[in-house]
Amino acid sequence: MKEIKILIVLVIFTLITYYGIEPFAHTQMNPHVAPANFNMEQEDIDLANVKIKEAQEILANAQNRLEQSNLEDDIEKQQKALDAAQKDLDSAKDGLVSYEELWGNVKEIKRLQGDAEIGGEVFSMACVSCHGLKSQGFEPPFDDALSSEAYGVVVPDLSKAGAVYDKDFLTALIINPAHALKLGHKFNDEEPFPMTQFFGLGEDPNQEVANIVAYLQSIAPQDISGKEVFEDACLRCHDLKYDNLLRPTEQTALEAYMGSNPPDLSMIIRARSVGYLETFINDPQKNIPGTSMPRVGLNEKSQNELISYLEQIGDSKKSERTTLGYFMVGFFIILAVLAYLWKNAVWKELH
Ligand code: HEC
Ligand code: HEC
Repeated sequence: MKEIKILIVLVIFTLITYYGIEPFAHTQMNPHVAPANFNMEQEDIDLANVKIKEAQEILANAQNRLEQSNLEDDIEKQQKALDAAQKDLDSAKDGLVSYEELWGNVKEIKRLQGDAEIGGEVFSMACVSCHGLKSQGFEPPFDDALSSEAYGVVVPDLSKAGAVYDKDFLTALIINPAHALKLGHKFNDEEPFPMTQFFGLGEDPNQEVANIVAYLQSIAPQDISGKEVFEDACLRCHDLKYDNLLRPTEQTALEAYMGSNPPDLSMIIRARSVGYLETFINDPQKNIPGTSMPRVGLNEKSQNELISYLEQIGDSKKSERTTLGYFMVGFFIILAVLAYLWKNAVWKELH
């Protein structure tokens, strides 16, 4: 009986560690963020509200500290902190307003029926000056070196864009690239984003945007693999050496553009969890506030394909490992039963 009791205590402590302490430690080390949300409007408004709340708390703390300080030097310091906190709150509020405005415009455009054929004509006037569209016979206007130098990054071919990216995201991107990519903190009037905003070619601009999106969707293949998503949406900045994918962008240009060297993603699935990648790719600003990695706007399907692909490249032995784990547990259960029976047989006379 004693052995059973020991076993029960052991099992209880193991379960407490596995389901209690480990997840708790995890939440302490990785601050909690809301799960990925593919309704991009909701995602942006929610995150903007979180930022406002954080800024309000910091401001309230700064106010308290100012009220409590009585040394002159200290008052001056706390007043400065208060001013900075007020400024942060104002810019957080501006952030919310700009996202409400952007998604309000997207809503207007969504009401319109896009015409793919006219969209093709608009595209060939507004977009092929920078983007290739190989499936339709438009070669990229520059080679990789020139594109890196001019834009900081090799401008992507858009043959599959209609399948890779979320439809509403594409609409938002065309009317305001920096905001759709959530890089408004980095790019502004003085430091403009390399992809220009589309203001229309003379007809109703909203209708023109709806037409471009309809066109991109009409020419995209129905199904695309995780590798194709990577090539379209990530490869211009990230290597994936384990699958022999090397980014076309020149490193010095990319570093100057991004402010850092985007890492090789071969092993990222092991360095970070699947859950982390799900929220990070959906909205990088949530996990790393202020990062220059853009929200690339994948739809849910292409993001899932991409993550399975990264798993396959970086952790191809995962399913083998899981199966082996079950075998090991089974082996130890059988071993424990045999050991128990054997022990009883040997010690029988002594008890
Ligand atoms: C325009 C360039 C660009 C594109 C496109 C891009 N990234 Fe990044 N990415 C970056 C930069 C820059 C960093 C480094 C960010 C930092 O350290 O703040 C980064 C970092 C990352 C990280 C590491 C995050 C961490 O916690 O350290 C992951 C994961 C990642 N990117 C995934 C992706 C995936 C997946 C795609 C395609 C769907 C992609 N990126 C597309 C520029 C890019
Ligand atoms: C002045 C050059 C320029 C023009 C004109 C331009 N783009 Fe871009 N576009 C870029 C650059 C540069 C990038 C890559 C930016 C980056 O990775 O940081 C880009 C990226 C994109 C992406 C990928 C975004 C993502 O989430 O990864 C799409 C889609 C796109 N452009 C669509 C369009 C469409 C549609 C038009 C026409 C209305 C257009 N672009 C016009 C320069 C341009």
